[in-house]
Amino acid sequence: MTQVFINGARDDLNVREFQSLDPSIQEIILAATEARKQAYCPYSNFAVGAALRTSDGTIYSGCNIENGAYATCICAERTAAVKAISEGKRDFVACAVVAQQDNGFTTPCGVCRQFLSEFVNGKDIPLYAAKPTNLPLRVLCTSVLQLLPNGFSFANGK
Ligand code: THU
Repeated sequence: MTQVFINGARDDLNVREFQSLDPSIQEIILAATEARKQAYCPYSNFAVGAALRTSDGTIYSGCNIENGAYATCICAERTAAVKAISEGKRDFVACAVVAQQDNGFTTPCGVCRQFLSEFVNGKDIPLYAAKPTNLPLRVLCTSVLQLLPNGFSFANGK
């Protein structure tokens, strides 16, 4: 059988219907969809929303924020993460990313994969990539470490 991989995740194993997912997962996908509406992306016109749930159940969401000096742009995933971390919450239990590309799912860039991997705390963080379209919606179910095998960390654990 031909195996199709999408951003490191095997399609037939890892793509699920939105409605079949746990309500707590559906909720962060919807939070990311909502956050995406605040995207400031006049240069790329590519709006992204992200949401992170922390172990106490709180959801932190964010959007991408671009800048005329392109290198200073921040992705939606890091916006959400820095909002949470700066509020004292960094025990992430799930992440959602929402953006519209007709031909595939949008998963975090390399910088964001590395950034999020700092906070997996010896576990992993499930990551759900979806589109902001109407239901029924298909969702790519993957994880931070699946997307970033062998990422950098200090060998002595900091
Ligand atoms: N972007 C994100 O916010 N998250 C991703 O996962 C992919 C890329 C943003 C960065 C930039 O503002 C725009 O999308 C195009 O790269």
